[in-house]
Amino acid sequence: MRLSREFRNQFSQRELRTHGRKNGFVTAGQEARLLKWLPLIGLTRDMTLADAGVPVASPIVMEIGFGNGDFLVHLAETHPDWLLLGVEIYLPGVAKAVGRLEDAGLIERTRITQLPAQYVLQHQVAEGQLDGVCINHPDPWPKARHHKRRLIQKDFAALLVSRLKAGGFIKLASDKPDLAEWMRDILDATPGLTNVAGPGGFVPRDADRPETKFEQRGLKKGRSSQFLHYIRD
Ligand SMILES: C[S@@+](CC[C@H](N)C(=O)[O-])C[C@H]1O[C@@H](n2cnc3c(N)ncnc32)[C@H](O)[C@@H]1O
Repeated sequence: MRLSREFRNQFSQRELRTHGRKNGFVTAGQEARLLKWLPLIGLTRDMTLADAGVPVASPIVMEIGFGNGDFLVHLAETHPDWLLLGVEIYLPGVAKAVGRLEDAGLIERTRITQLPAQYVLQHQVAEGQLDGVCINHPDPWPKARHHKRRLIQKDFAALLVSRLKAGGFIKLASDKPDLAEWMRDILDATPGLTNVAGPGGFVPRDADRPETKFEQRGLKKGRSSQFLHYIRD
């Protein structure tokens, strides 16, 4: 079985240049699950989040770059009242997460897309629609000439703020000190956000957090992660 070009085009935004891998090996079983679930819980590029059957009373929390779904599954398990919007450009990651969410009986409370977070926030999420955003270990792009590829940029931070409700949160993690400081400096300087740890600060690790793949990868190399928590004023 192969996902048709038409099917893939619905869920990915080919015109929009994003850095990072989008394609890779997906098993026939995973493809079958994508074909089953994305038409039901996927956000195609012509839809807004409001079109995606969002229950009126549910807080909506977005995870950007969910990788293989470690944290998304944790959020769904620990917050049964939340509607989760999972955004991940790497198709094999989307496929893994869809399988795990289905197996755990949690998939109907999620909306999933392979579209890039910038597109989703700009075109599909309304102002003030989100109760929270989680970003775990975004790509570090360590070379100085690639820093402009990093997810957290001044304009992106302002876009995030505009999509959050008053009192909504942004939580971030990174095992790369340089990137953690980069994100903190940009978000501390973004109007409308308060750093829960105080300016320049990091919060302690939430005790119930699962170790995501990239947190574990950092730990294996002797790097513990740093955590940021912001509240929208
Ligand atoms: C270093 S991995 C971290 C994965 C996972 N959050 C973890 O902690 O193990 C960064 C993830 O962000 C995804 N990503 C990169 N740019 C993105 C974008 N613009 N929108 C959505 N996801 C993106 C990548 O495909 C990758 O899976």
